[in-house]
Amino acid sequence: MEERRLGPVVGLGTWNTFDGDAQLAREVVGAALDAGCRVVDSSPMYRGAERSLASALDGRRDAAVVATKIWATTVDEGREQFRRQVDWYGRVEIEQIHNLSLWREQLEWIEEERDAGRIERLGVTHYATGAFAELAEAMRTGRFEVVQLPYNPLERTCERELLPLAQELGMAVIVMQPLGTAALLGDPPHPTELEPLGVETWPQALLKWALSDDRIDLVIPATRRPERARENAVAGSPPWFGPDERALVERLASR
Ligand SMILES: NC(=O)c1ccc[n+]([C@@H]2O[C@H](COP(=O)([O-])OP(=O)(O)OC[C@H]3O[C@@H](n4cnc5c(N)ncnc54)[C@H](OP(=O)(O)O)[C@@H]3O)[C@@H](O)[C@H]2O)c1
Repeated sequence: MEERRLGPVVGLGTWNTFDGDAQLAREVVGAALDAGCRVVDSSPMYRGAERSLASALDGRRDAAVVATKIWATTVDEGREQFRRQVDWYGRVEIEQIHNLSLWREQLEWIEEERDAGRIERLGVTHYATGAFAELAEAMRTGRFEVVQLPYNPLERTCERELLPLAQELGMAVIVMQPLGTAALLGDPPHPTELEPLGVETWPQALLKWALSDDRIDLVIPATRRPERARENAVAGSPPWFGPDERALVERLASR
């Protein structure tokens, strides 16, 4: 495995799930870690999620890779967010600039924190395809090692420019919204239609679809249900899909 690679693996997103509910966070994060997920993605934007995540990692911090974000309108606010993250996590393995917020200004001090050893890798994210040109510009600076973007069978814009660029630059790719924020889950295929894929559930098929592109390192489905965290984690193991299996998932997703 190359040094840049994080995966292919399944992680856990934390948007709109346990928020400030520390007990629920312990259950969901605990289930994910027990099932083999290592990377947990959060942000100051996700209300109480960062704090609850810290409490869920109490006693298990070394088992987790914390990917979180700076989401601020001033450098001072960004630094304060990082100060709290260091209090909570001790260090941040992947620090991402959320939605490109003030990215040029925040980069300088974040790079200093990386050089001081409190951050391992720098990343940059955006959810909106309309921001992909600026995301590409940020990637081309060569100052980021990780990019986070949306990717699922119904949202494939990143295939045009960002995935080839990430590969050219040797960047790791984190996939947000791998289940299409649940929009892809409303009318799941019948289990017999999944048989050729060797998976048991439709969410597993969608997660494996993304991970089977060898430019993708990590998918971070979010759930507030521990049993779903376990179900999702299963998709992080080979065998990976070939072109025929990926095409089948695409057909099933677009019915
Ligand atoms: N940087 C950014 O701009 C940005 C933007 C969006 C997201 N993100 C990150 O990416 C993560 C994932 O994206 P997302 O949360 O927007 O969407 P997602 O992971 O595609 O979908 C989450 C939804 O899927 C449901 N779900 C999860 N596993 C399931 C399963 N096995 N069976 C049935 N339903 C399941 C969840 O409901 P239940 O809770 O009921 O299971 C939730 O409603 C976020 O949590 C966040 O960490 C980043």
